[in-house]
Amino acid sequence: MSIRLVDIHKSFADKQILQGFSLEVQEGETMALIGQSGVGKSVALKHIVGLLIPDSGEAWVDGERVTELSRSELYELRRRVGYVFQFAALFDSMSVGENVGMGLRRIPGMTEEEIRERVREALALVDLAGFEERYPAELSGGQKKRAGLARAIATHPKYVLYDEPTTGLDPVTKTVIDRLILRMKDELGVTGLVITHDMEDAYRIADRIAMLYQGKVRFVGTSDEIRRSEDPVVRGFIEGRPELIGEDV
Ligand SMILES: Nc1ncnc2c1ncn2[C@@H]1O[C@H](COP(=O)(O)OP(=O)(O)O)[C@@H](O)[C@H]1O
Ligand SMILES: [Mg+2]
Repeated sequence: MSIRLVDIHKSFADKQILQGFSLEVQEGETMALIGQSGVGKSVALKHIVGLLIPDSGEAWVDGERVTELSRSELYELRRRVGYVFQFAALFDSMSVGENVGMGLRRIPGMTEEEIRERVREALALVDLAGFEERYPAELSGGQKKRAGLARAIATHPKYVLYDEPTTGLDPVTKTVIDRLILRMKDELGVTGLVITHDMEDAYRIADRIAMLYQGKVRFVGTSDEIRRSEDPVVRGFIEGRPELIGEDV
C-alpha cells in the first residue's frame, strides 16, 4: 500500500508546472518533498487527494486511482489522507474544537460524544489539550499550525500530507512541529509526505527526500544520499547556491 504519482503532467493556462512527475511514498515512511518556491510542490500534493486533476498521468492511493473514485469514495479517501494546509487555514469564526472536529462531522454515524473524544485526543497529541473553546485569533502562529495538524489527524488518517508545516515559524516552534511530525509516525504509524524548503527540517524528519525541479523529480534518496549527491542542481539547492542551479531565481 502506498501513494503513487505516475508521470503526472499539469499546466495552468500556458504554464507547464508538472512535466512527468513520478513519486512513490511507501507505507510507514516519511518523505520530504523539496524544491524552490513556485516549482509545483503544492500542485503535486493536491493530486493525491483529488483537489487537482492531472492533464495526463495517474495518482494512486492504496491501489485506487484517484480520478476514478466516486464522490463518496473521494470523501472516504480524504479521511484516509489528512492534509495540513500551508497557512493552517483554520476558520476564524469557529472555535478550535469545531475546526478540529470538521472532518469528523462528515463521517456517517459518528455521535457528538465520539467527536468530542476524538477532538480531545487530537488536541492532546499536539499539546493543545483543553484548547477546544479558544478561537484561532487567540492562538500564536505555532499553535495555529498545531491546531491544523490536529484537524488533519482527528479522522485517524493513514497518510498525512504536510504543506510547509514549519515555514514562517521561529526555530524553537519549528523544532516542536518537527517533533510532532516524528510523533505522528512513531506513535500513530502515519505515513507522511512533507513539503519543505528547509533542509534542516528535511534531514530531521524524513526517511527519504525527493527534489522537484523543472516539473520532475530530479532526485530521491536518503539524507546521506542527498548529502553525497554530485548533481549540481541538488547541491545548489541544499547548499543555497543559485549559481550551481544555473537559473534566474
Ligand atoms: N489553481 C491554480 N491556477 C493557476 N495557477 C496555479 C494554480 N495552482 C498553482 N498555480 C501555479 O503553479 C505554480 C506552482 O505552484 P505551487 O505548487 O503552489 O508551488 P510551490 O512549489 O511553491 O508549492 C505557481 O506558478 C502557481 O502560481
Ligand atoms: Mg506550496
